[in-house]
Amino acid sequence: MTELEALQEQVLSQIDKADNLSSLDEIRVSVLGKKGVITEKMKTLGSMDAEQRKEAGKQFNELKNAIAQALDEKKEVLADAEINAKLARESVDVTLPVRDERQGRIHPLYQTYDEVISIFGQMGFDVAQGPDIEDDFHNFTALNTPKNHPARAMQDTFYLTAKPGEDPSIVRTQTSAVQIRTMEKQKPPVRIVVPGRTYRCDYDATHAPMFHQIEGLIVDKETNMAHLKGCLAEFVKTFFELDDVPVRFRPSFFPFTEPSAEMDIGCAKGNGELKIGAGKDWLEILGCGMVHPNVLKACGIDPNEYQGFAFGIGLDRLAMLKYAIPDLRQFFDSDLRWLKHYGFVPLDIPSINCGLSINGGNKR
Ligand code: DAH
Repeated sequence: MTELEALQEQVLSQIDKADNLSSLDEIRVSVLGKKGVITEKMKTLGSMDAEQRKEAGKQFNELKNAIAQALDEKKEVLADAEINAKLARESVDVTLPVRDERQGRIHPLYQTYDEVISIFGQMGFDVAQGPDIEDDFHNFTALNTPKNHPARAMQDTFYLTAKPGEDPSIVRTQTSAVQIRTMEKQKPPVRIVVPGRTYRCDYDATHAPMFHQIEGLIVDKETNMAHLKGCLAEFVKTFFELDDVPVRFRPSFFPFTEPSAEMDIGCAKGNGELKIGAGKDWLEILGCGMVHPNVLKACGIDPNEYQGFAFGIGLDRLAMLKYAIPDLRQFFDSDLRWLKHYGFVPLDIPSINCGLSINGGNKR
């Protein structure tokens, strides 16, 4: 056996034994690579005389071709084997049980927001929003509640640390601040509802330091108290999904309205139960009134030309009443079991839901 035949036999047997693509490639490099055995042999051709070169060149090429072909064939076999092994490894066991699909819930507060906004949306109100961190002017002064006014004591305000010489900012105690922000920018007619978080230093089963309100404001030339009553009476009927809900307006005091009132709805209380819409009892549900002329003036609106009404509703309480949730603090506990019980399945929501939504007026 010549030296070349022995080399060919040795390399072909290595190729035959290779059991994966990377060891096959190592063989290729060791034989045909820049410093491979055959490449080195090719380099010796230059120092041969013509007759020798012709003969040796032919033999080297035959050897090279035989090995290259063997490498190609083996490569195909190994690549196929690798794919088959991968397919076998990654096969899906269709007999495994199906995994539960987890579905989130809509928090009852946001469900209630959606419903309330839908109802006012259908009456023609737009949605306005404002910052949670407010200044004294928008939260109090422009709402006819100057510094040292006793009415400020009605709202246990959280003050932020002030820079020297400046008034401290506050976290807003009422969404009423957005009345001012809206009227500063927009001249009448104004017709808005303002959903939003509000903050006061208070904590028990029916009060939390952060709570939710929805404010309403209409300012126009002819707006009067009868409009206020009609609008709110209609709202409670639609919200509680009842044909009739008796309402009663009691005189009250808010610095930013004159006259001011609190609205109660008729209900029956007893045996630990509360039934809305019937019975001899009353339940306070919101504050309201005709916008005080000083509030209009603070926003550059002439009170001799325009008048309006406003109202403020505690959203947490509305949600508790409609969905029979006993303790306000549970709203903020992030307990998934609670949310599963009281929350709403998206796209499977009862009642209204066809008007504005809190996230920008999309229909569901
Ligand atoms: N801002 C009041 C509060 O937080 C609620 C309120 C009462 C808002 C009467 C109004 C209103 O717009 O007219 O207690």
